[in-house]
Amino acid sequence: MPRSPSNTRDMFHTANDILQPTQARERSRQHFLVPIERHGQKWVDLWEGGEFLPWDKGMANPALVDLLKQQKESPIFVAHDFKSGTKTALVPGCGRGYDVLLLARYGYHAVGVDISAKAIDNAKEWIDNEIKRLRAAGEPLPTGRIDLISGDFFKDDWVAKIGINVNGGFDVIYDYAFLVSLNPILRTKVAARMHQLLAPGKGVLIALEYPLFRPFETGGPPYGISSRDYDRLFGGRFLKALHYMPKRTHKVGEGSDMVSVWVKRYFYRASKF
Ligand SMILES: C[S@@+](CC[C@H](N)C(=O)[O-])C[C@H]1O[C@@H](n2cnc3c(N)ncnc32)[C@H](O)[C@@H]1O
Repeated sequence: MPRSPSNTRDMFHTANDILQPTQARERSRQHFLVPIERHGQKWVDLWEGGEFLPWDKGMANPALVDLLKQQKESPIFVAHDFKSGTKTALVPGCGRGYDVLLLARYGYHAVGVDISAKAIDNAKEWIDNEIKRLRAAGEPLPTGRIDLISGDFFKDDWVAKIGINVNGGFDVIYDYAFLVSLNPILRTKVAARMHQLLAPGKGVLIALEYPLFRPFETGGPPYGISSRDYDRLFGGRFLKALHYMPKRTHKVGEGSDMVSVWVKRYFYRASKF
């Protein structure tokens, strides 16, 4: 029986649902059937085309909204108390920048980087309009600085441009749908890069684990992943501080998304002790 998107059964996925490629999933898979060196350009093409952006939900992920709301009570954010100065937060593959604005509203110097210049233009426009809307509604405005910059997450030029130390200059990295949007052979490289960018001993990685419901073999992007994969990727370099199913998240991940929060270890090397 075909599923209607409004059906609450949407939260659950039968084997048939998962293995049956949707039109969007198949289009995404086909689009990226080119050598991996050209994937950056393929993301640029999607943003330039502007009509196939299936990941763009038009708002920050409610799971991040809820986590930040609770930050004051949460021990993982103790290192982030703002009395000791400005804190920096990075959203890699930020798209339209919904989460960047959210982090800036919590006082972070929030940085969004995306390989597509068009995505960054869109993000600037969306954030400008949103700030106007917040002002008109008398709602709290961002108190943190916002930097939106086009660049390749793996390169250093964009980090230097915004004057942040590439080795440990960030206090927070938030990942939603970035890690899993890249070819899985890059996952270890992503984890190592996040580790490099975060501050030793206190840098926090917030990972919205998605899409956990999708078997890896069904292709991507986004490519299926499991919580165990997150453990394997981040477990050595980071200490897992939290792992829970959020009460709210984007509809596509309801009933399966998890949040994990990782703190960068001071030392990461094989030890003989
Ligand atoms: C699936 S989208 C997620 C966007 C955003 N996080 C959201 O939830 O709306 C993945 C994003 O990563 C960007 N991207 C892909 N490769 C990148 C790279 N090497 N460096 C920076 N951004 C990249 C794409 O342009 C795209 O906007």
